[in-house]
Amino acid sequence: MKFRKNVLLSFVAAASLIAAAPAALATTFKMAIGDAAGGTQWELGSSFAKNLEQKTGGKHKVDLFPNGQLGSEEDTVNNAAMGVLDFSILAVNNITPFSPTVGLLTMPYVIQSADDAKKLTQGEVGKELTENTIRDAGVRIVGWAYSGFRVLTNSKKPVTTLDDLKGLVIRVPKNEIMIASYQAWGVNPTPMSWSETFTGLQQRVVDGQDNPYITVSAMKFYEVQKYVTNLRYIFSLEPLVVSESVFKDQKPEVQKAILDAGHEATEHSFKYLLETEEKIKKDLVARGLQITEPADGEKEWIAKATTTVWPKFYKSIGGKEKLDRALQTLGR
Ligand code: MLT
Repeated sequence: MKFRKNVLLSFVAAASLIAAAPAALATTFKMAIGDAAGGTQWELGSSFAKNLEQKTGGKHKVDLFPNGQLGSEEDTVNNAAMGVLDFSILAVNNITPFSPTVGLLTMPYVIQSADDAKKLTQGEVGKELTENTIRDAGVRIVGWAYSGFRVLTNSKKPVTTLDDLKGLVIRVPKNEIMIASYQAWGVNPTPMSWSETFTGLQQRVVDGQDNPYITVSAMKFYEVQKYVTNLRYIFSLEPLVVSESVFKDQKPEVQKAILDAGHEATEHSFKYLLETEEKIKKDLVARGLQITEPADGEKEWIAKATTTVWPKFYKSIGGKEKLDRALQTLGR
């Protein structure tokens, strides 16, 4: 009888362990987001989290930490590479220091439309850059936020010509291609990390910066900026990256769920941009921002940046042929 009671107890214990197993296997991943909630990064991240949870029957959830809570965008790449952070969404220009060939996507005036951005990221070029990023930076790109062109904002004066730019202190990311673009336009910009940018603008350490309309709105830059120049020099792409070591630790079906969730979130991001950008632009005007077009169809800006900057960075992006191939993909 005693024996039977023990067997029963072991059976109950085993049954409760089995019942607890799904909970024990469940994972809540952490995702760092550089921007405030409400922008394109947030849209991509929330869509990804929802998709992943659905695809894994609720076993894998993602907690989003916006506003640089988990460190600067550059720190999140290092942390993900070391496997102490699972996911991060950040601007592609802040990955380039770790994986220089990705600089192809920040070469001025290469991407001229949202469709161009989609073609490059989702075709052969995007595939190759994803592989390079795993190799160089220890992170895997599994999705893209399409955020729109980076427009120039400042607190001092309307800017339409390169002459107008003189005397302004412009914040740029710590990205050599962007620094070189402003130098080609005749000013020495101030490299500053993204997490310090709002305070830098507020305290007038810098007069201006560039980022897409949706980001300007999400970050409430309208509180500290007055003038916008509708530049089209860089189309902002913001990859969702997963730590390669975290990815490798997942079962094949979870890896597939991550890749599929990222793909669907990318599609969502593209739609979100097309549906939202114009509305946000109008809202920014209603909040007092003055938007001007660059003079003469941006000709001078384009000529200076492409003739000076492109040749300087052929080597770091893997050779002139990489840029030629991208332009060919875009039908130019
Ligand atoms: C930057 O300017 O550093 C980035 O584009 C900001 C961002 O992640 O939105």
